[in-house]
Amino acid sequence: MCGIVGYVGAQSALDVVIAGLKRLEYRGYDSAGVAVVADGELASTKKAGKLVNLEKQLVSHPLPPGSTGLGHTRWATHGGPTDANAHPHLDNTGRVAVVHNGIIENFAVLRAELADRGHRLDSETDTEVTAHLLAEEYAAAGDLAEAMRRVCRRLEGAFTLVAVHADVPDVVVGARRNSPLVVGVGEGENFLASDVAAFIAHTRSAIELGQDQVVELRRDGVTVTGFDGSPAEVRAYHVDWDASAAEKGGYDYFMLKEIAEQPKAVADTLLGRIDASGSLTLDEVRIPASVLREVDKVVIVACGTAYHAGLIAKLAIEHWTRIPCETELASEFRYRDPILDQRTLVVAISQSGETMDTLMALRHAREQGAKVLAICNTNGSTIPRESDAVLYTHAGPEVAVASTKAFLTQLVACYLVALYLGQVRGTKWGDEVGAVVRELSDIAGAVDAVLETMEPVRALARSLADKNTVLFLGRHVGYPVALEGALKLKELAYMHAEGFAAGELKHGPIALIEKDLPVVVVVPSPRGRSVLHDKIVSNIQEIRARGARTIVIAEEGDQAVVPYADHLVRIPATPTLLQPLVATVPLQVFACELATARGNEVDQPRNLAKSVTVE
Ligand code: G6P
Repeated sequence: MCGIVGYVGAQSALDVVIAGLKRLEYRGYDSAGVAVVADGELASTKKAGKLVNLEKQLVSHPLPPGSTGLGHTRWATHGGPTDANAHPHLDNTGRVAVVHNGIIENFAVLRAELADRGHRLDSETDTEVTAHLLAEEYAAAGDLAEAMRRVCRRLEGAFTLVAVHADVPDVVVGARRNSPLVVGVGEGENFLASDVAAFIAHTRSAIELGQDQVVELRRDGVTVTGFDGSPAEVRAYHVDWDASAAEKGGYDYFMLKEIAEQPKAVADTLLGRIDASGSLTLDEVRIPASVLREVDKVVIVACGTAYHAGLIAKLAIEHWTRIPCETELASEFRYRDPILDQRTLVVAISQSGETMDTLMALRHAREQGAKVLAICNTNGSTIPRESDAVLYTHAGPEVAVASTKAFLTQLVACYLVALYLGQVRGTKWGDEVGAVVRELSDIAGAVDAVLETMEPVRALARSLADKNTVLFLGRHVGYPVALEGALKLKELAYMHAEGFAAGELKHGPIALIEKDLPVVVVVPSPRGRSVLHDKIVSNIQEIRARGARTIVIAEEGDQAVVPYADHLVRIPATPTLLQPLVATVPLQVFACELATARGNEVDQPRNLAKSVTVE
């Protein structure tokens, strides 16, 4: 949350920074600001609202040209989304500018100290203190990186800071604790950003910054040290994503593009992980087979959509490996003193690799001796770096705040982990693994087929635009799908939407059913566990008898649901456990279309951020 860009080079810093902020706006978009150093002076401007408001302000009040600068797009924590609280924050001389992502927990103490020393603080933010402290420390040290290190040693909490000082026009400094910051290494120019998407149009060579590190950026060099000043070893890596992957490619919204990309994302996530004999070769899972054979419990931690992937993974892991598996919200996990030891495998699922709750959960697990396997979409992010092993999803950059293709690829990665555990532990024979893998390989085509038939779902969504509530029901793997469908609708359409386990209906939720209330029901295959199917058909009858308008998602050929479906959405037949890969897709399309029909921002829903780097 909050997007940060810093630049030093030969180009117009403002152009580079604004283009970078556009790529990072998914991280927060309640205000934005920029600063450039030009002719030994600092010039800055900032504005509440989306980046476009700042761009308008820059037209009416242009900044002087400069080739060193920084920018910020904000998701408010301390202080509302006003012009004054927008970043950058300046010291009282107006020569230092700082942007920040995270929360400085001891800011009140620091603020009081600064006030005692005569500083005037203008905003309600925690960030502003850092600009004042940096100005003081620079005056004492005469070196901006050293000043930043001194400031960081005084700060508590999670923070990424990027700063410029008018006295050192060719320097940008950055600092990182618990919040992301990556360096883009160019020729005669260098970049800093919360995410590589901000600079991949300029360079695909990147350096990950480690925990508690300060970086000094000049045109021709990058120097990284610890907060204590000790030199740090850095690891450069090549960014696989290309710039076009982060473009809308002709779609009105990133979300539409990302929904359409799902067949490819699913196929890419399987690529290179299956050998000719159908066995899994997950070389990235560096946890030795001997350790995996000893695992007696799997715990999955994740947030939001990734948590729903984890709920489905639990069913696959227990079914294929017979190891007990729990899935837990990362934000709850460490506060309940979970029972973990060397024989626990913790799987942390995260698209961004930066979600603070998930990061804290995995740190807690490792402290207890558990091994952590990350399932992640973002190379070089914190969660895989701090895990024992990682299985990357190959969804490509996901920009829309509401997760779609990342979810499907998380599911594929979870199935692979479950099968791999089964393979290593011998609970699944090679031919059984091969058979499931073949079914997984067919799923990309099935997702494609679903996408081809979505027009009636869009029309239905438009017809429901004036409803206030939509309920979602499912059983077994269909229950997390129902939760995900409801989450998508809340995020995008701002409607009251709830997902229930269909069997739980009679224990309370059925009281919500009233005439014409839309209820989406995810129906399991009649071929697999037919008992599940039969029970849910009864549930559909129960709600219909009470006036609900039933929207039934059912496999092709399932005739039993036909009499009870006011709207029938067909999905291709798949094995029961894999059904979420196809059943989720209509729910994504439904939510996206409803949001559009209600005039909402699809890619940037209100109050949300894609990467939540605060607890
Ligand atoms: C935020 C996003 C969700 C996402 C969740 C977990 O809340 O808005 O779409 O599912 O974070 O994100 P992660 O990057 O850890 O998968």
